[in-house]
Amino acid sequence: MRTLLLLFVLMNLDKLLKTGCCTETQDQILSITPKTQEQVDILKNISTQYETALWQPVSSHYIQEETEVHLFVPANSSETVKDLLQKGAITHEVLLANANELIEMQTRNDSTDPRSSSTFYDRYHSLEDIYYWINKTQEDNPSIVKVILIGSSYEKRPLYVLKLSLNNRPNKKAMWIDCGIHAREWISPAFCLWFVQYALSFYKINQEITDILDNMDVYILPVMNPDGYQYTWTTNRMWRKNRSISKSSNCIGVDLNRNFDANWCTEGASNEPCTEIYCGAFPESEPETGAVAGFLRSHKDSVQIYLSIHSYSQMLLFPYSCTLDEAENHKDLLEMVQEAAQLIRRHYWNTYRYGSGAKTIYLAPGGSDDWAYNLGIKYSFTFELQDRGRYGFLLPPSFISRACNEALLAVKTVALKVIEKT
Ligand code: ARG
Ligand code: ZN
Repeated sequence: MRTLLLLFVLMNLDKLLKTGCCTETQDQILSITPKTQEQVDILKNISTQYETALWQPVSSHYIQEETEVHLFVPANSSETVKDLLQKGAITHEVLLANANELIEMQTRNDSTDPRSSSTFYDRYHSLEDIYYWINKTQEDNPSIVKVILIGSSYEKRPLYVLKLSLNNRPNKKAMWIDCGIHAREWISPAFCLWFVQYALSFYKINQEITDILDNMDVYILPVMNPDGYQYTWTTNRMWRKNRSISKSSNCIGVDLNRNFDANWCTEGASNEPCTEIYCGAFPESEPETGAVAGFLRSHKDSVQIYLSIHSYSQMLLFPYSCTLDEAENHKDLLEMVQEAAQLIRRHYWNTYRYGSGAKTIYLAPGGSDDWAYNLGIKYSFTFELQDRGRYGFLLPPSFISRACNEALLAVKTVALKVIEKT
């Protein structure tokens, strides 16, 4: 009997260690709401001085009383962090107890032949696979898809834009969509791939996408921050910025969505390279920013819609984020995202908040949407996809199709309204 028991324990040791008893062997996401200024200070200290990654808010600077904080705590700092929280009498909730398992799940299915399976668009893909997909998509659809090299990243990876063009009407307008400005927001590149696939498969089948593609070309940049994206696959899943090396600091990376020339580096960005919202040495200091800004400058007469895809929090945002001032066509923009949010609620029972960036979330200068807007692209948006914090940046692959279909509905709504107006 005793040997049987021993045998059982030995056979299940692996499972027992992974679950039940020892949560410290897992990376976790904690939800913490500080109640006093003292607790705010403790949290700021934890999130900056210990090996953790702040999910929400974007920088420790914004931690405040009675506002929920989402913190990624790697297994090896778990004990220290929980001790510090306990000492400060700060309660926490474990949002995810098994972050490593989720990360493993998201990277597992990435095959070397990315087109071998019918579920390609329901999975996350390595940078290498995305480059392969870009090439293959062009080869399979030579009359519709063009690949344009718009520049390269800090580490010299190519930045490819797919141009979808179904006809050669004179004075044709265009829509721009970029994904993956922020490395850890994996649902974003997944959306760009999803969108291309949807457009290619449903042209002449779905009325709305047909109307859109008959009337405008679409430029899609699937991964604006390839160095950061690669880094999230190999080294640190929680990386946000690009990977550029600073002259003045040992800390790496610039927040590309603070590096555009729109009230650059004012309140809501930081000139400190060690923060997640570092604005860089000067506007467009980063090659990724420069490539996108350069392309849009030279196509500003045709591009009517600018769209930047992020996650998470489920929001449909428009300018301004760099000032509390209202955009000149605020009412139009508000109407568009309001309708999109209503449709998402009706079709998918899901809630998206909407409004100008500064008023809906926070002041965040140097963003691509504000810059594009000031360039003259008057229909400029940032969409924050699923979810609202349950899985955060670690949205499981099984959620990809829902998240993308919701976003697609929002994109269609906006594009059709612009076509109708102009
Ligand atoms: N979460 C995004 C960020 O912090 C929001 C972007 C909204 N637009 C903006 N220009 N900041 O970058
Ligand atoms: Zn983002």
